[in-house]
Amino acid sequence: MATLIDGKEAAATVIAQVSEAAAGLEKQTGVKPGLAVVIVGNDPASHAYVNSKSRMAKQCGFNSIQHSLAEETTQAELEKLVSELNADPSIHGILVQLPLPKHLNSEPVIQAISPEKDVDGLSTVNAGKIATGDLSTGLISCTPAGAMLLVKKIHGADLSGLNAVVIGRSNLFGKPMGLLLLAANATVTMAHSKTTDLASVCRQADILVAAVGRPQMVKADWVKPGATVIDVGINRIDAPEKGEGKSRLVGDVAFAEAEGVAGAITPVPGGVGPMTIAMLMANTVIAAHRTAG
Ligand code: GUN
Repeated sequence: MATLIDGKEAAATVIAQVSEAAAGLEKQTGVKPGLAVVIVGNDPASHAYVNSKSRMAKQCGFNSIQHSLAEETTQAELEKLVSELNADPSIHGILVQLPLPKHLNSEPVIQAISPEKDVDGLSTVNAGKIATGDLSTGLISCTPAGAMLLVKKIHGADLSGLNAVVIGRSNLFGKPMGLLLLAANATVTMAHSKTTDLASVCRQADILVAAVGRPQMVKADWVKPGATVIDVGINRIDAPEKGEGKSRLVGDVAFAEAEGVAGAITPVPGGVGPMTIAMLMANTVIAAHRTAG
């Protein structure tokens, strides 16, 4: 059976370090890290994520601000709020929860966030720094940074000689994840919906990272025996076995069968998910530290 990679435990370690760093920064410089989380509309899953981000920011000792905007918010109103937050010295990190309602264009909103406050690492400046191998002066996208931390727990910091396959090529995850694996010397394949014979591409992977948003798509026979499997999917599916109308969360990997083949695997929930929030807190304290330093 595969080793379970415990994201909850790894996240708790990061959160403890972040809380200590935040307390130290405030004591030495008077700067309290400030995180502003912006959500537009009524999507219940997005509200649940955002609430847990705001709660965790408070727990870390940050100034935690949440802006919940109405579904009808205009592009101009949203961009105005971003520019006010850019100008607010008590705010060091700004996160606009995605996806935005359909009538809004996320790209100009993301680009409107000051790169120094872009704790999601999505702006062109921060994405470009990762692409050019500068992993120290910008802010790295939270989910890939958290997934990398879990990979490094199994393989150490140097992935030389290892084949890594990332399924999914989003700006939010797949692209930065591929670049971080590359920066750690892995040989990286970025697979996606147009890849032919995805199963055989995946079987080459010593490190297989799934971020497709399709419940339990990666089967046991896609997994190379002994491989490390990082499951980034969070999908809610019906669970009639738990009672009528009940649901449960599953990843993009068919966990029960893949667990018998992999060397190490992240569970869903309790794998990559908690790491995203932990790395968001880490980015916020880094951003605050830079303004004080
Ligand atoms: N929606 C799902 N994941 C994320 C994330 O990491 N950042 C933002 N801004 N929105 C998301």
